[in-house]
Amino acid sequence: MTIAAPAAIKPVPFMQTGLAENDIQAAIAVLRSGMLRAASQCAALELKFSEMSGAKHSMTCANGTCALQLAYEPLFQPGDEVLVPAWSYIATASMLVARGCKPIFVDALPTTGQIDLQDAAKRITPRTRGIAATHMYGCPVDIDATQALATKHGLKVVYDAAQAHLATYKGKGIGEFGDAVTYSFYATKNLGTGEGGLISCNNDTLARDIQLLRSHGETEKYLHERVGYNYRMNDITGAIGLSRLARLPEETAQRQAAARKYEAILATVPGLTPLAITPGATSAYHLFTVRMDPAVLKVSRDQLMKDLGALGVPSALHYPRSLVQQPAFKAFLPGQSPWPIAERLSQTVLSLPMHHALTDEHFATIQHALKTVTSKYAV
Ligand SMILES: Cc1ncc(COP(=O)(O)O)c(C=O)c1O
Repeated sequence: MTIAAPAAIKPVPFMQTGLAENDIQAAIAVLRSGMLRAASQCAALELKFSEMSGAKHSMTCANGTCALQLAYEPLFQPGDEVLVPAWSYIATASMLVARGCKPIFVDALPTTGQIDLQDAAKRITPRTRGIAATHMYGCPVDIDATQALATKHGLKVVYDAAQAHLATYKGKGIGEFGDAVTYSFYATKNLGTGEGGLISCNNDTLARDIQLLRSHGETEKYLHERVGYNYRMNDITGAIGLSRLARLPEETAQRQAAARKYEAILATVPGLTPLAITPGATSAYHLFTVRMDPAVLKVSRDQLMKDLGALGVPSALHYPRSLVQQPAFKAFLPGQSPWPIAERLSQTVLSLPMHHALTDEHFATIQHALKTVTSKYAV
């Protein structure tokens, strides 16, 4: 079949991080007010985020890495073993190490790329105290299986939702589940504010602990009940976040519609399969990631990506290596293995452009590139 090339190849933007005029005006209003520290805008963002994600409490903070640290510190103790996906971004595991915990790396499911709870169960020891599970790419993990395992073994659960704002599980916001949920508002995230983060939870005591840790354990001016950090957000960031949050349901729906278009195209393309969505979940589609089948496409992934790029479709690796392939965690690996799926994912996945502003014209370019390149290499 010949596929009509778009008239002229204009590269499809991989992501869309631009602010709207409303966001800019919201930030300017804070600048004009002179109230730059965390104040009414951060408070309003916290309230709205709780409402929209199904959580009781939300605490803004400086970034998604701080969010993990603030969630882990009250829940885990130094020396605890905590189950963590081998297939995640580094911060999910590195902040466990910062807490003095031992990360126990769990393999991924081949279809979804999410943490494999059966593999997790096999790695539990008398020292296991928790599960830190990442909703990878914006798709919730199997939350029922995670909570069931946690209940059976008395484990605390932190969900890293840095990529999964407004994702749902069985019709509920992901903020309803687990002991704490953490988010990143990094510039490229679905809710990007430049830097920023948030922790949500449903327990009043834990919320207070996190609030104290976030701001030097201060209970009244210059009275410090405990040792903490300065991991606060500021109101410029809070205002941008609040303004963007109002649009996020619509933008998430646009990402989901884009995913449906990709699925229709990929159903007709050999050797590239989208990562599956956990049953019962809706994904926020931070990324749209596909697996390449090397038995079908006789080409290296690098070359495939170059060819797609030449036809106007940029792609990226999330991630080029799993956490057990990171030198940073080498000291924790003796006695732990194997992770065949995480390793295979690191060799076979690639992410295609995904954002709320993908047009039919973009999809014409994407379809042409995918069909042309795969038909060149398919056996
Ligand atoms: C899964 C995951 N966890 C944690 C983080 C850390 O967030 P931040 O960059 O805001 O510190 C990220 C950001 O890339 C992420 O993707």
